[in-house]
Amino acid sequence: MKQGSPNMPEWFEDESLWVATYPFTFSEQRFAMADEEVNKIIALVDFQGKSALDLCCGPGRHAVVLAKRGCSVTGVDRSKFLLQKAEERAKAEAVRIEFVRADMRNFNRPGAYDFALNFFTSFGYFNDQEDDIKVLRNIYATLRATGICLLEMISKEWLAKHLSATTSMEAPDGSLRVERHEIFDDWSRIRNEWIFIKEGRAKTFKFHHTIYSGQELKDRLYQVGFKRVKLFGDLDGGEYGANAKRLVAAAWKE
Ligand SMILES: C[S@@+](CC[C@H](N)C(=O)[O-])C[C@H]1O[C@@H](n2cnc3c(N)ncnc32)[C@H](O)[C@@H]1O
Repeated sequence: MKQGSPNMPEWFEDESLWVATYPFTFSEQRFAMADEEVNKIIALVDFQGKSALDLCCGPGRHAVVLAKRGCSVTGVDRSKFLLQKAEERAKAEAVRIEFVRADMRNFNRPGAYDFALNFFTSFGYFNDQEDDIKVLRNIYATLRATGICLLEMISKEWLAKHLSATTSMEAPDGSLRVERHEIFDDWSRIRNEWIFIKEGRAKTFKFHHTIYSGQELKDRLYQVGFKRVKLFGDLDGGEYGANAKRLVAAAWKE
């Protein structure tokens, strides 16, 4: 049965993946980075608005920081487990955030936000690339006329130079994540196998997503209507050039 077919959930709907990856992907160190990331994002796009959408907010790393800066924030995510983590964070930090459990393909609130964020490779998850366009259309529609969006993800150009077939990572609790990567579909997608090893027991997850080059992402942002798009290689505004580690796209509605 094909993943994503009506009878089989799509990989990102498997909550046990987010539970297993939590100590690696959302370590305290990564939470601590969010403060500085938000500072840089605000400076990069000169954000002066009051309302923000964190699309695919996960455990609320950026949503909480934006709310602490006085923004009215909506965090949208598909994972019940991660939204619960986000709610706990918001409570601990004494900020009010609206959390919505929704698929990014379906969340659309016309003209509601000054800013939309999609951070940490939370884009390109669908088998059909038209669904990625749908997400961008939703983001565009959800922004006010002066709205800005920022997407941050792994870049295809970086992968072309640095992809290792196998990598591994240790979480603070001593557990291990071994990753295997493979490019497929005419260099448009990456297939990942993550093997989590804890106390001698291993659990494997397989998932895949589309990888975008700077130009491909830019074209799609223009396609859905954004008037101005700028690419950066990091949140400091570094050039999206030979040494870019990340693909950061900022897009302005006007
Ligand atoms: C790599 S995490 C990034 C989380 C967060 N943006 C951050 O920087 O910490 C990707 C997130 O996308 C969410 N996600 C995956 N598929 C989704 C979908 N179809 N609709 C909404 N959220 C989705 C996951 O639940 C997860 O929280």
